[in-house]
Amino acid sequence: MTLIDQIKEKIDIVEFISEYIRLVPAGKNYKALCPFHSEKTPSFMVSREKQIWHCFGCGKGGDVIKFLMEYEHIGFQEALKILAEKAGIEYTRYSTLDQKKIDLLYDLNSKAKDFFKQNLNSEVLNYLKTRGLNSKTIQEFELGFAPAGDNLTIHLMNLGYSADEIVSAGLAKIKPKTTDFFQNRIIFPIYNQFGKIVGFSGRSLKEKQQPKYLNSPETLIFNKSKILYGFHKSKAEIRKTENAFLVEGQMDFLMCWQAGIKNAVATSGTALTNIQLNLLKRTGVNKIIVCFDKDEAGINALEKYLENLAKMDFEILALDLGKFKDPAEAILSEPDFFKKSQPKPVFRVLFDFYIKPEQSWEIRKKNVLHLLSLIKQLSSQLEQYHIIQQLSLKTKIKESILLDELERIKTSPALSSNLVSKEKIPRIDLICQDLFSLAFSNKQFLPSLEEHQEFLPPKWQEILHGNNNQEINLLELRGDYKFQNIDQIEMEKLFQELINQLKIEFYKNQGEKLKSKIELAQQNGNLNELNKLLKEFQATYQKINLIKKEL
Ligand code: CTP
Ligand code: MN
Repeated sequence: MTLIDQIKEKIDIVEFISEYIRLVPAGKNYKALCPFHSEKTPSFMVSREKQIWHCFGCGKGGDVIKFLMEYEHIGFQEALKILAEKAGIEYTRYSTLDQKKIDLLYDLNSKAKDFFKQNLNSEVLNYLKTRGLNSKTIQEFELGFAPAGDNLTIHLMNLGYSADEIVSAGLAKIKPKTTDFFQNRIIFPIYNQFGKIVGFSGRSLKEKQQPKYLNSPETLIFNKSKILYGFHKSKAEIRKTENAFLVEGQMDFLMCWQAGIKNAVATSGTALTNIQLNLLKRTGVNKIIVCFDKDEAGINALEKYLENLAKMDFEILALDLGKFKDPAEAILSEPDFFKKSQPKPVFRVLFDFYIKPEQSWEIRKKNVLHLLSLIKQLSSQLEQYHIIQQLSLKTKIKESILLDELERIKTSPALSSNLVSKEKIPRIDLICQDLFSLAFSNKQFLPSLEEHQEFLPPKWQEILHGNNNQEINLLELRGDYKFQNIDQIEMEKLFQELINQLKIEFYKNQGEKLKSKIELAQQNGNLNELNKLLKEFQATYQKINLIKKEL
């Protein structure tokens, strides 16, 4: 058995995909909202029997390996490796050069992490304790310390790594001479969603050491804006609750985690990227709770998040941090701060900030227009309207006037959806696709389909008699998807209609062929032939008309 077969034997596609998205039973299959394009009704189908998935909205599909590749944006080898590990099978395939480089980076990071952990001294531990972290959290997230000098570089070279390799992992720098990249810093390992260390964030110990946070440079496996800190730990709870707390920094995340808020993630201070939001969307998040403080900077940060969140149809709530600067500080002085606080819809918070009873009309006008520009960012018009109603109540400005003003604000082109361009499929193939889907998912139609096979293009005849199981499986799943909600009588009608359409298309094609033959006969002055062809042509169109009458 090949590795692929072994993996497929051990890992059930329905269970596997359920770990990523919410599957709902649909007959003998399962369906879901497609994680690969945005949609409101499910066109993503999974078949346990066939161990395949397919989205009939965007056209993506395949087996369990393909799913992981698409979902995690990884290559075939990496997907195989993860699945083999999950299935408890030894991964034996020869790695490509890229894979080797990636493995080397993971290895180096893991060794570096061990080194940093060993260097955690009492001074640093005390600092972390004053920030509120306990030993369990420190151990669980493997915090460490990077001493000054070139200790790590030497340590790694002693383990057999070359200076080039250490530099390529972002753990050493060469200028002006080779030294450790992180020096005199508290180290937070940064994990990807599988819990592997992809880089580090180092916090200075002393106020005057700048920058406060130093992150690993970008490598093959590390890009700060693609990572959500803590997600590898919190994704289970996030999936369960469908809610996520969004915080800015590692300390915020760790304090949340320690205080029992197990569904948080941190952005490491960057703007939210689409990649990060997709990660949350794919995990089933509907509601995102953003923490903010009430001053102007806090509101600005909230709006920065809103800009990206609004595009993705998340419900956005805001949690008021009151007198605290960030979640870490709030939890440090009140450990159950989060559990006590009641998040509010984000627009309520923004309205309270911008609309004050005592403000002048000039300021009111400016602020209302600003709020309208934020509302305009929401992807759902219904949602826009809902918020406008509330703004109208709050400002006593008529709804219709607010709506007019909203209309006038230009939408940014970035928000327009990216339509997938589809190649044009001949009509007869579309008919065959439906016909075959229907007949394979409802096998009682198969004999009748065979009876009409003379009308099928050669390609489809082959499918009918060949043994391309992959193609047949997909057609069957498509049938299950497309015809899941229609009853027997309707189905029979539909089948007959498709057969008739097929015949019409067949005769039309025949007619087109005759037309070009007729032109040829005319050019050659071959009257006998021309007569015969014209009669045939007539007969063909009579057949079409006859069928059309039946319809
Ligand atoms: N950050 C960063 N690089 C910087 C500054 C900040 O990567 N030069 C990221 C860190 O992940 C940090 C987050 O942005 O946790 C928020 O920054 P900031 O509010 O300045 O830090 P705090 O989280 O408050 O840091 P601390 O609590 O340790 O003082
Ligand atoms: Mn802080």
